[in-house]
Amino acid sequence: MRAIDIIIKKREKKELTEEEIRFFINGFTAGEIPDYQAAAWAMAVLLNGMTPRETKDLTMVMVESGDILDLSEVAPNAVDKHSSGGVGDKTTLVVEPVVAACGLPVGKMSGRGLNFSGGTLDKMESIPGYRCDLNQDEFLNQLQEIGMVLTGQTADLAPADGELYALRDVTGTVDSIPLIASSIMSKKIAAGAHAIVLDVKIGLGAFMESLDLARELGELMVNIADLAGRKAVALLSDMNQPLGIAVGNALEVKEAIDTLHGNGPQSFWEHCQEVAAHMLIAGGKANDAEEGRELVEKAVQGGQAWERFLDLVSAQEGDVSYLKDPQKLPQAALIKTVNAPRSGFIKQIHARRVGETAVLLGAGREEKGESIDHGVGIEILREVGDRVEEGEPLLNIHAKDEGDFQAAEKALLEAHSWSETPVDPLPQIYEVIH
Ligand code: URA
Repeated sequence: MRAIDIIIKKREKKELTEEEIRFFINGFTAGEIPDYQAAAWAMAVLLNGMTPRETKDLTMVMVESGDILDLSEVAPNAVDKHSSGGVGDKTTLVVEPVVAACGLPVGKMSGRGLNFSGGTLDKMESIPGYRCDLNQDEFLNQLQEIGMVLTGQTADLAPADGELYALRDVTGTVDSIPLIASSIMSKKIAAGAHAIVLDVKIGLGAFMESLDLARELGELMVNIADLAGRKAVALLSDMNQPLGIAVGNALEVKEAIDTLHGNGPQSFWEHCQEVAAHMLIAGGKANDAEEGRELVEKAVQGGQAWERFLDLVSAQEGDVSYLKDPQKLPQAALIKTVNAPRSGFIKQIHARRVGETAVLLGAGREEKGESIDHGVGIEILREVGDRVEEGEPLLNIHAKDEGDFQAAEKALLEAHSWSETPVDPLPQIYEVIH
């Protein structure tokens, strides 16, 4: 077999066999197929696509390139979730303890923020001492003991994906639905859970800007899970405006704490309820979304979900006194309110621009590895569809100094657009794909 023949076959829009995909990916990962051939192949895939069978084979070859966690001994009914990323998305911080409080283990490996999109690990590291670097044994032991883990990637999971993603990142080949689907699913399958809820974001602050593309990605990922013997459900959810009020690490932890006490922003709480309910269905604890939502409500109202969050943080060596007294969490030097410059209905709050402004304030990073400021961020006080009067509070900016405040104020006012006539609120969930 030769790499060039496989590239030409894909260039000619033909379907690759499992052997060809395995030969190519293993050869690339071993350094035997050079980057320029892998880049040509990735571009041919981007332009000509892959069948679901090819995509599933690519996924499984990448899964088999590294460690595969076996949860059957420690938590056979563990569920996992994945969000395709967005602005203000602190859902995991709420749904993981909620689902665990309902009796289902959750073993979750999360990522860091990059560009406009925040990352769960950065949020959790606002809590002093919290460890995101558990090794594989620690992951498995903690999952068995307390039924919850929330950490970075523990092991060498799907290393072929790591290599291929780095190459795609610099060759204009990220935006291919089969490549995105196989990349995400290879890591999820290698992480071991048998039931996975995929929160596929759509809109101005998401990878997928249109419902059609998000649906295609969701369907493909559910299909890959099925072919790989796992159960997955994809929720297509809105990311045109930021999720909830808080954008920025410690601010988002505070919002998650409020939500776990039953006092979170309504739209964010509804989103969490929906995601958690689908995790409960996937894990066999609820028969339908209504029953799932009821269980979720009880776990929060009864205080069990909050207790479970404290258990999770203390198991990973975080200082829970910061959760019990959130004023102790990192805070910005300057906190100022920006009032509405006019009266009207809010037509749009451009999520991507809000995320980019959070990065400008220091809450996120433009390049991998940059350090971040956990205290800074934004509170978006009103939502799309709200009627606002001139001079009413519109947002709070948490900045390190006046210069950053002013730059953020300008960008955030530009991120809002207004209407004289009523505007419908945005939906939370567009579709559920089984
Ligand atoms: N996230 C991933 O893990 N992989 C992709 O290809 C895109 C987003």
